[in-house]
Formats: sequence, C-alpha cells, structure tokens
Amino acid sequence: MNKLRFATPEDCPSLLAIYSPYVKNTVISFELAPPSTQDFRSRIAATLEQFPWLVGEIDGKAAGYAYASKHRARTAYQWSVDLSVYIDPAYHKRNIATALYSALRDLLTLQGYYNAFAGVTIPNEKSEGFHESFGFRPVGVYRHVGYKFNRWHDVKWYSLDIGNFQLPPMPPASIGQLRNSCKCDNILGKYASLIR
Ligand SMILES: CC(C)(COP(=O)(O)OP(=O)(O)OC[C@H]1O[C@@H](n2cnc3c(N)ncnc32)[C@H](O)[C@@H]1OP(=O)(O)O)[C@@H](O)C(=O)NCCC(=O)NCCS
Repeated sequence: MNKLRFATPEDCPSLLAIYSPYVKNTVISFELAPPSTQDFRSRIAATLEQFPWLVGEIDGKAAGYAYASKHRARTAYQWSVDLSVYIDPAYHKRNIATALYSALRDLLTLQGYYNAFAGVTIPNEKSEGFHESFGFRPVGVYRHVGYKFNRWHDVKWYSLDIGNFQLPPMPPASIGQLRNSCKCDNILGKYASLIR
C-alpha cells in the first residue's frame, strides 16, 4: 500500500539511509559528510516546527522524502521556501517525487506561502527533468558556487508560483497549526494515489 505522511523524528534512521549515499557519493547535496543520527533527527524536528517534511511509503517502507525550508532569513522573504527531495534509487520513476511535491505544494499554499524554489547542482538529468516536468521554471545558474570532491560546481535555480500574491499577504501559518485538520489528510490521501 502506498502512503504519504508527515515525518517523525523516529523516521531518522530510514531517511538518513536514503540521504547518506547522496552525500557520500554525489554532489547533489553540498554537505561533505552525512549528518549524525542525532543531527538529522534534530533537523527533522526543527523543520516540522514550521514546514511540512513528508515521507512517501511503499508497502510500509520509506521510499523517499521531501521537505520545505526557509528560502532566506530576512522578513520580506517570509513567503518563499526552498524544496528538497530524495528518493531511494530502488524506487525511482514511480511518481513518488511527484506525489511528495504535489502534497508539499498544496500544504504550503494552505499555509500561505507564495513561492517555491529549488537549487539543483548541474548536471543532474533526473532532477532537472523532474523539476521541469513539475512546472518549475529555470531562474538562472550560480556559477562555481560550491566546491566538493576537488571541483567547483554550478547550481541551477528553479522557481514555482504556489500562491495568489494577495495584497497585503498574511504571514504564513506554521504547519503545526494546520496538520490535524482534515484538509491536510485530504491532501496527503489525494496525492498518495499518484504513486505507482
Ligand atoms: C530527481 C528525483 C527526486 C525524481 O524522483 P522520482 O520519484 O523518480 O520522479 P518521478 O517518478 O515523480 O518522475 C516525474 C517526472 O520527472 C521526470 N524525471 C524523473 N526521472 C527522470 C530521469 N531519470 N530523467 C529525466 N527526467 C526524469 C520525468 O518527466 C518524470 O515523468 P515520467 O515518469 O512521466 O517520465 C530522484 O531521481 C532522486 O531522488 N534523485 C536523487 C536526488 C536528487 O537529485 N534530488 C533532487 C535534489 S535537487
């Protein structure tokens, strides 16, 4: 059975097992070493204070995850988030990233966010293809913005409008204020059915 749900700190070992190989073996993440279990657990808990962190499950197993984070710290950026997604390679191309991002988008819109951004270290055919298929538009490329594995790397930024740019905008609600509402359950249930 396929399911989308909010992460809990107890997901830490399985989600870290998905993330660590991307840190150790690729430049997809700009971390140089995987975080400790304790650090990753704290990261999940801290994110969930304001933002959705979602897990995609197939037959009870965490197959991937996606979460939102603050785009920039200054107050006028408060309606903008960055998105991240990591899927276990055994489950690629089963629409899990699409399901996770669809649910994230709707939850973030419900919270009152207006812009979602994603930074992709290039080349990354899978991630570029995925973000473009989801409707993200390229913004531009930060040239040689990261150094990892003895090389400089470029990051291509994408943006997606997720709000209606109301005037004046209300400060976004925290996900904690909304997550027990049936609207959240409906969003998670609706997009879990996209997973194949
Ligand atoms: C990028 C990633 C998240 C995509 O996850 P996924 O669950 O396999 O993606 P989906 O099955 O939802 O794919 C949706 C669409 O994205 C595009 N896409 C997915 N994989 C692709 C690939 N290998 N090449 C080109 N486009 C691809 C396609 O348009 C696809 O639609 P289709 O299946 O009808 O062809 C996954 O490959 C991944 O975890 N990669 C490593 C981590 C990473 O790069 N994360 C992003 C960091 S910026």
